[in-house]
Amino acid sequence: MGGALRRADVGATVTVGGWVHRSRDLGGQLFLALRDREGLLQCSFNPDWTAPAVIAAAAAVGVESVVLIEGTVHARPADQVNPEMATGEVEVRATGIRVVGPALTPAIPVATSKDTKPPAEELRLRHRVLDLRRPELQHALMLRHRLAKATRDYLSGLGYLELETPILTKPTPEGARDFLVPSRVHAGEFYALPQSPQIYKQLFMCCGFDRYFQIARCFRDEDLRADRQLEFTQIDIEASFIGREDIITMAEGLVRALWAEAGIAVETPFPRMSYAEAMERYGCDRPDLRYGLEIRDLTAVFRGSESGIIQSALAAGGRVRAIVVPGGGAWSRKQVDELEAIAKQAGAGGLLRLKAHQGALEGPLAKFLPADAQAALGLQEGELLLGVAAADRISSPALDRVRQECAARLGLVDPAVRKFLWVLDFPMFDQDPETGALAAVHHPFTSPNAEDMAARPDAPATWRALAYDCVLNGTELGGGSIRTSDPAVQSRMFQLLGIGDVREQERRFGFLLEGLRAGAPPHGGIAFGFDRIAMLLANATSLRDVIAFPKTTAARALFEGAPTQVPVADLDELHIRPVEG
Ligand code: AMO
Repeated sequence: MGGALRRADVGATVTVGGWVHRSRDLGGQLFLALRDREGLLQCSFNPDWTAPAVIAAAAAVGVESVVLIEGTVHARPADQVNPEMATGEVEVRATGIRVVGPALTPAIPVATSKDTKPPAEELRLRHRVLDLRRPELQHALMLRHRLAKATRDYLSGLGYLELETPILTKPTPEGARDFLVPSRVHAGEFYALPQSPQIYKQLFMCCGFDRYFQIARCFRDEDLRADRQLEFTQIDIEASFIGREDIITMAEGLVRALWAEAGIAVETPFPRMSYAEAMERYGCDRPDLRYGLEIRDLTAVFRGSESGIIQSALAAGGRVRAIVVPGGGAWSRKQVDELEAIAKQAGAGGLLRLKAHQGALEGPLAKFLPADAQAALGLQEGELLLGVAAADRISSPALDRVRQECAARLGLVDPAVRKFLWVLDFPMFDQDPETGALAAVHHPFTSPNAEDMAARPDAPATWRALAYDCVLNGTELGGGSIRTSDPAVQSRMFQLLGIGDVREQERRFGFLLEGLRAGAPPHGGIAFGFDRIAMLLANATSLRDVIAFPKTTAARALFEGAPTQVPVADLDELHIRPVEG
């Protein structure tokens, strides 16, 4: 391929195929930059070695057309060597050109220089075939291939089998809505696309395939963000006769292998933190440890405050928690108001603010805080305290968001720093404060901590789960758990989750229960977000830059034009009647 030609190829007669990236006519002499997935190659057309008709034909070719160029590889004269191109030491002196795939004038430019910005994303996605020709995306997808191969090599090396699971299946609860596919043959019945292969991989364990993996496509009908897609890929893993430590060690090895593929050495083992500690210190279960700004509990200090807001929050069982931002005292009122808006968006009623200025505390609440409490805060000159007085359920997400925004403002988010972390001991259930209903924090197949169950059998909301998440710089890379392998315990979990009726359990999860009843080994696993990993390693900021044909945040595939309406006759066949209006 043209982009792979090097100095060692000098003298070779070649026919190179590719896309015309750029064309430069120097009056009689013509240079075409020919592009393929390896890169660019300079082809020069010169009356000294090219027939006039060939030069004329080359001059008429439009950019992005596909051509075959015949010629000889020559070393470039020293003053024409281009160190920025992999082929920069050579050029092909062309003797012939054939246009095999003429292109219409491209709707968006493929050739961009360092100084030109790529076109707007919507245009890029609309014209994805051109967009995917851009070197950044070519590199990102080629990296994705290498990461998939490294995954297969690493896990196969450990004896894991790559096994496939169905796409037309039964709902697998992972916390999102299902995509449903109507059955033509069975009127009124639907398949679900898998939110993950969770149940099937557990069934594989019951079948005796004691080490499984799959680079698996998952489908979740959820609101899209830069790090979420409707369909995405997981590195899905499960193993039998193992415990949490085995999974963690295997997973750290996988991360090392993947990062090595991108030329980055990762140190293992990763630090660990309990869920409770992560929530207490950072207000979230996937903290970004590249910076401090830790949350402090200032309840004791604020107990003496005469502020009605604080007193009523404390009386309701809440706490006063806050971060202290060095240099934040210099922020304008508007800048602090913006932080308050962020806290409110996250559910807080407001943001307490105090700053140390010329030896005194300033802020709306300062006058309600006795002198000894003010002194106990120990705020240094220029520091800004931002707090929330409320139940942890409210203060944690608000302070998490405010902490992230402050770190970004202070320039503390260094992309060159990598802070991996295991978050362990998640709670088994999340309890709705109003209804008391329980929902699985990870998923219903996660095993609760047996000691917690034994110690407080009637307080499931207090049980921890044998679940773990792998986090990097505030992004959840992957998550997994040790599973419930006892069918009776699994049935109890369903009951606690509100599926008490045994027939209903059988209807929805009978195939899992049947597998567990047939003799299930202890087992557990993990799934990593493959697109997220590819995104981080390609230094991209959106999953869309590492997925060939992604969906927009409005859940549309702009290039192919999906979703689409379908003829009523097709719906009839599927026994679906459109709703009027
Ligand atoms: P979980 O739901 O945590 O676990 O998913 C595992 C990982 O998949 C990635 N991920 C996503 N990536 C892109 N778009 C999405 N919409 C999306 N949702 C999740 C994340 C996440 O960490 N069956 C369990 C795993 C297990 O228990 O073994 C599961 O699916 O990186």
